[in-house]
Amino acid sequence: MNRRNVLAAGAMLAASAWTPLARAARPLGADHRARIQALLGQMTLAEKVGQMNQIAGGRQKSLNSKLDAAMLDRVRKGEMGSFLHVAGAEPLRDLQRVAVEESRLKIPLLFAMDVIHGYRTILPVPLALAASWDPKVAEQAARIAAEEAWAAGLHWTFTPMVDVARDPRWGRVVEGAGEDAYLGSRIAEAQVAGFQGADLGEGRRMMACAKHFVGYGAAEGGRDYDSAEVGPRTLNEVYLPPFHAAARAGAGSFMTAFNALDGVPMTANAELVRGFLRAQWHYQGLVVSDWNAIRELVNHGIAADAREAAVLALKAGVDMDMASGSYATYLAEAATADASLVPLIDESVGRILAAKARLGLFDDPYGFGDPARDKAPLRRTEARDLAKRSLVLLRNDGAVLPLKPGARLALIGALADDASSAIGSWRARGQATDAVTLKAALAGADYQPGTDVAAAVEAAKRADIVLVALGEDFNRTGEARSYAEIGLPEGQAALLEALKATGKPIVAILMGGRPLALERELTGVPAVLQTWLLGIESGPAIAEILTGKAAPGGRLPIGMPRRTGQSPQSYAHLPTGRPANPDLAVDSARYHDTEIGPLFAFGHGLTYGEIAYGPLSLSAETVAPGGRITASVQVTNRGTMAVDEVVQLYANDPVAAVSRPVAELRGFARVPLKPGQSRTVRFTLSPEQFAFWRDGKWIVEAGDIRLMAGASSVDLKSEARFRITAGAEGQVPAASLATKVEIA
Ligand code: NOJ
Repeated sequence: MNRRNVLAAGAMLAASAWTPLARAARPLGADHRARIQALLGQMTLAEKVGQMNQIAGGRQKSLNSKLDAAMLDRVRKGEMGSFLHVAGAEPLRDLQRVAVEESRLKIPLLFAMDVIHGYRTILPVPLALAASWDPKVAEQAARIAAEEAWAAGLHWTFTPMVDVARDPRWGRVVEGAGEDAYLGSRIAEAQVAGFQGADLGEGRRMMACAKHFVGYGAAEGGRDYDSAEVGPRTLNEVYLPPFHAAARAGAGSFMTAFNALDGVPMTANAELVRGFLRAQWHYQGLVVSDWNAIRELVNHGIAADAREAAVLALKAGVDMDMASGSYATYLAEAATADASLVPLIDESVGRILAAKARLGLFDDPYGFGDPARDKAPLRRTEARDLAKRSLVLLRNDGAVLPLKPGARLALIGALADDASSAIGSWRARGQATDAVTLKAALAGADYQPGTDVAAAVEAAKRADIVLVALGEDFNRTGEARSYAEIGLPEGQAALLEALKATGKPIVAILMGGRPLALERELTGVPAVLQTWLLGIESGPAIAEILTGKAAPGGRLPIGMPRRTGQSPQSYAHLPTGRPANPDLAVDSARYHDTEIGPLFAFGHGLTYGEIAYGPLSLSAETVAPGGRITASVQVTNRGTMAVDEVVQLYANDPVAAVSRPVAELRGFARVPLKPGQSRTVRFTLSPEQFAFWRDGKWIVEAGDIRLMAGASSVDLKSEARFRITAGAEGQVPAASLATKVEIA
């Protein structure tokens, strides 16, 4: 059978457990099932446990560095099933050869790496890609990354991170799609599609990994690795849907999170992994732990030692141990002492072998890696396009932007010349030297790094307009980069004040991987452009937007607080008995020392010119369970430039058995509009999309639903109501269901 057919046949052992919800759970072809059963029959306990062991073949910054003779000997003995921190078509082919030619059972190895936003061609960070509000952008980025990483012999990436994050103090906010379960679900499925393609067997693709299951983004205080306390409704309605969407899109693997949820570390959370993910969602892909997380169960205080930790993780349903060595050291012995563990080991090994089968590795273990393509040129055109689409124009008072031709420009700020930051912290094989900075892209501007404030002020005085790059370098976001204050780093606020004092119009160009809390700093700054960390074409992309060669079209995937102390927050908060009131004399749900709500809300973003919205019209006044309702809205470009408008649809259930969020995103479309053009966006929804989680079920209640269309979560232009005529039970997380969108 050729590889394509094998992979099209799907992947898993237990055909009976398949539901259409999880493509990854489709049964394997009979030949592969038989092969896996035969292998399981031949394997010693030690060989089985070897398959469950993933080892670092190098360090993140020094790939392959641990692949010495002793390591190869371990491969020959079947002591590991997978390597991470390895790469390169030729070295991986050599390593694979040892496994498939020199080990007893000739089982191929699985090669993994964190290929997050590009491999050689470094693209915008994930939060920036989500800011495109265009799943096609996320999909294309994933595809480019997969094609390059595949050429380097890699099978498996630890992406996408689908953790909802509502607290920008958490440094890993940069790696996800922001605060919203619906947007996060759409981006998650697009990323899975981009990495895996319609069929992993077509080649030039990688197995995706939805991580970190689950609640990692809800870390208390925004402190990475810290515990999360999330109620069952919020867990099901907010944190789980993007995982469900990723599973349904066929994500071949999941990674458990470091954190504890309600006191139970996710690496040992049998209720959620075995009970929920496996039993309820029928997910049968491979589940891997996070780095050393099995051993860290001892630190969590739920295991006396690493042996106990290994048994707990196995019982929870974790198939593969990333880097802790606990499975390798203790599982065989534990299973010898307790035979009830053997079937669990067999299941896990079956899933690992199934993943290898699905990747085609049993048919052609050398099918990955292409030395010629591994040296292919960087994909700059696509990188620039994706970067441009990820930019968000937050403020443009007096139409300061686009820049007027011939304007004398001062460009201030070290970040404008920081190539290393442009490529972010997950840079795979990317090189800072490949990045084109804003300084390089705006060669005609009078550049000052800003370390000498007086020199920066002089440059500003000579200019008609001051462009100042502010924010965080690559090293302030990412893993273990939580901050208690998310303002401007040292020195930048003083620099900005000095520039403001010149009276020149200022464009703040905000770089970095998290939304910063800058209300005070940005007061008096007429234009603000959020540019994130945009990859190797960062500078040219920003320059094209500044000069008006292209119009900004991105939107915030997470609100920007006024002050750190507002975090965490979300536009999709619940109503309260005493809703926030602008009048401080009224006791209400707000802070006394800051305005209500974020500085820039979820979904906010401007473009050049003006967009007009028509009324929201519905196809019917009522809908029955199982039926569909269509909501349409017309948008018109009243400006003189071709732009994109992100039309957003929010829902609210005004009276329900439990309090419902004031608004929840339930549809969006990034709509290209020529000058003067009108287009109509039609959203088709089902009652199940308004279900809430109660007592372990998805409840669709009879009653009214408000739909609101607009340009952001706070800029709602029109609304309409319909009624769900009867109650029903939903089957899946409401936010993971996609609204059908048509643009006419
Ligand atoms: C730890 C991180 O939490 C995870 O996201 C990553 O994939 C692994 N390290 C492997 O590098």
